[in-house]
Amino acid sequence: MRTPIIAGNWKMNKTMAETKAMITELAPKVKDANAEVVLCVPYTDIQTAKRAAKGTNIKIGAENVHWAESGAFTGEVSAAMLKELKCDYVIIGHSERRQYFGETDETVNKRTQAALAAKIRPIVCVGETEEERENGLTEKVLERQIVEGLKGFKSKDFDKIVIAYEPVWAIGTGKTATATDANTTIGYIRHLLAKKFHKSIAEKTRIQYGGSMNVKNCKELMKEEEIDGGLIGGASLKPDDFAFIVNYDK
Ligand code: PGA
Repeated sequence: MRTPIIAGNWKMNKTMAETKAMITELAPKVKDANAEVVLCVPYTDIQTAKRAAKGTNIKIGAENVHWAESGAFTGEVSAAMLKELKCDYVIIGHSERRQYFGETDETVNKRTQAALAAKIRPIVCVGETEEERENGLTEKVLERQIVEGLKGFKSKDFDKIVIAYEPVWAIGTGKTATATDANTTIGYIRHLLAKKFHKSIAEKTRIQYGGSMNVKNCKELMKEEEIDGGLIGGASLKPDDFAFIVNYDK
């Protein structure tokens, strides 16, 4: 059985004061959740978020991590630094990083290795662009992202790795994949995991949907058999909206 995971991705939003206020308001609203609850926040908010979430069921994550242990990488943050802050999760390979910051499947692989070595759970993002979808390339792109991005990982690594399927055309646009489409594509990713890795890996790996998931569509999406949770951008910035999504089954 896969435990559903609802994770917020705050992107470049919220100051420390706003972080504290949001988590203080959110915590009582999600305390009885059946899903695992995670908030991935900017580096500067991690410590505040950890403190505000102490004693609650909210886990805290980062939005990226560098693969090197230390060194001349101006502006980057290592897995050991995140571990020191007791980060539980880290998002890797988000489409905004792929689009604006030159993220590749190879760097996704290296960052995932670094996270796992530090015992931080990676949320590895995959997904096709609108153009790729229109050209019928969705499956090919996903195959490349999964095979290259997760190359070399073993069964025990997949106890920690979460995959987020986020069609790029659905992110922040208000356009959501239909529940049926999202389910079919996530089913395809699971099929890939079985084919390229192992059937047991396909069965145990949690795969989230992400892209304009909100209070209106979360119940429908979460009803689908293959969808094990959500990676939520915009709607994770508002306590009531995020709590509603977390409590989708209530
Ligand atoms: P969105 O973002 O929910 O605002 O579409 C999702 C994401 O980018 O992870």
